[in-house]
Amino acid sequence: MPKGKSHPYIHGTDRSEQRRLSNLNGLLNRACLRELALIGGEMVLDVGSGLGQFARDMARVIRPGGRVVGIEADEKQLAEARHQARAAGEGGLVEWRLGDALALPLKKVEWARFDVAHARFVLEHVREPERVVDQMARAVRRGGRIVLEDDDHQVLRLWPEPPGFAELWQAYIRAYQYLDCDPFVGRRLVALLQQAGVRPIRNDWIFFGSCAGDREFPAFVRNLIGVIETARTVVTGPIGFPVKQFDDALRVLRRWGRRPDSAIWYGLCWAEGVRP
Ligand SMILES: C[S@@+](CC[C@H](N)C(=O)[O-])C[C@H]1O[C@@H](n2cnc3c(N)ncnc32)[C@H](O)[C@@H]1O
Repeated sequence: MPKGKSHPYIHGTDRSEQRRLSNLNGLLNRACLRELALIGGEMVLDVGSGLGQFARDMARVIRPGGRVVGIEADEKQLAEARHQARAAGEGGLVEWRLGDALALPLKKVEWARFDVAHARFVLEHVREPERVVDQMARAVRRGGRIVLEDDDHQVLRLWPEPPGFAELWQAYIRAYQYLDCDPFVGRRLVALLQQAGVRPIRNDWIFFGSCAGDREFPAFVRNLIGVIETARTVVTGPIGFPVKQFDDALRVLRRWGRRPDSAIWYGLCWAEGVRP
């Protein structure tokens, strides 16, 4: 594992990745917001807020009176979050802060004050997810909620199986491990809450699959191709997956996405706890 970079974000932050992340938000946010069941007036902390679409979704639900603070480690992501917010006429909706989930940039008076601390697709990208959850637990008041949503990459099923995909997906999983990140962190969410002194109250899935014929299916396929493509440097470099095999498998996957009988089965792991 290369030492030095403290945020080993596998997907990077170039324009095509930011488009993929925006597309992903379009597919998931309604379901996530429903499950989060926020109530008006709450103070919410969004850790690893990315391009901020979900932070803004949350802010619309809790205003007036509520407040969302979005913490993001990458300046480019934060700049794009601010840009998208302004473009949507929502420049003041969320308070954006540059900072590390492992050492949250909160003011002294803000600790133990938030009603909800939320992180989606973040724990899989840090080397010490337990530290992030610990920080989130400290950020919420007694009785406040900590909500974690993350991936367990073993859960993915494609049917009919595209030839070459299983090998490519395993190499993609190994890329996380190469970066010292846990590709299966989703299954550990309840344990992470408990380790942080939080009382787990819910373990769940958000279905994140689709099939040919569904209007959104092409966007699901694009997301799947996008997550793998953005990891190309690691997968074909240090992981040693042959470039030709990588390109061939993605070509097959693109074709598979146009079949009339293709289906993606996936679930986003969800766990929720309360600070005693
Ligand atoms: C896959 S994106 C998810 C963004 C957002 N939560 C969402 O669901 O759309 C992960 C984000 O976490 C950020 N990130 C990674 N490590 C971080 C850290 N240690 N502290 C804060 N943000 C981090 C990345 O820069 C990236 O923007």
